[in-house]
Amino acid sequence: MAVATSPRTIPTWDLPLRLCHWLLVALVIDAWISNKLGDMRLSWHIWNGYAILILLVFRIIWGFVGSSTARFANFMTGWSAVTHYLKSTMRGNAPYFPGHNPAGGWSVAAMLFLLTMQGMCGLFASDDIMASGPLNFLLSQTMTGKLSTLHSVGFWLLLGMIALHLSGVFFYLFFKKDNLITPMITGIKYARDNHPEPSVQIQSSWIAFLVLIGSSLLVWLGVQVWKW
Ligand code: HEM
Ligand code: HEM
Repeated sequence: MAVATSPRTIPTWDLPLRLCHWLLVALVIDAWISNKLGDMRLSWHIWNGYAILILLVFRIIWGFVGSSTARFANFMTGWSAVTHYLKSTMRGNAPYFPGHNPAGGWSVAAMLFLLTMQGMCGLFASDDIMASGPLNFLLSQTMTGKLSTLHSVGFWLLLGMIALHLSGVFFYLFFKKDNLITPMITGIKYARDNHPEPSVQIQSSWIAFLVLIGSSLLVWLGVQVWKW
């Protein structure tokens, strides 16, 4: 008689990475709401923008010192690995990755890049009436005009990227029967019988806390230093 064994669990996404993800989701939605419903000076939008910038600096540093699944070195691969992964996905025999797969890795990088550009342009943007980013005074009106346009266009690019991101997540859910969403909430994935158990090193949340303080200081100093 077969003995039922409980599936082996793999702690995949650390708590700081998950919090960072869901906070980013909330804040990106709020960036739009605060722009539509905020005051004329967009102060709510600007504070919201600072919070996004802090999370992005946090995520970038976490990509070097965080858990193994969070590290860029472990999921940023060359194009040949990406095409090999995509081809094997089409054939239905894609290798298993505990963290981001090679194609997912590039989409994470693209998403973080777009968000960072959006946030940086926001620092210099202005609507030429009431609302200005905190570093708007540093550049000429022509330059800030261009960065404001980039900030507007960037939002649509970001929406496109988010649509792609969600299409990927739901493609896995409905066509590959692989639920990636629950692990992004619980942090846990289940080992596959036909794959060797991957080893994942989870970083301490205390280190994340220190990185968060460092990131907040970096963003604050990065803005203040130009005003002194
Ligand atoms: C990733 C985060 C951000 C998103 C998604 C975002 C989104 C937007 C959107 C959709 C607009 C309206 C653009 C338009 O009217 O065409 C806007 C305007 C603006 N944002 Fe942001 N923003 C972000 C971050 C920031 C940050 C960090 C700052 C400053 C610290 C900022 C400052 C401004 C300002 C001053 C405007 C008015 C300028 C204009 O209308 O072009 N934003 N933002
Ligand atoms: C504003 C919207 C969103 C943004 C900006 C965003 C951004 C990101 C980023 C940057 C990552 C990489 C995580 C990391 O390594 O730090 C990621 C992963 C992920 N996101 Fe989102 N996300 C958004 C919305 C969502 C939503 C609504 C869902 C669920 C329906 C979702 C599900 C996931 C999942 C499952 C992963 C992990 C993918 C994997 O296993 O490789 N995201 N997202």
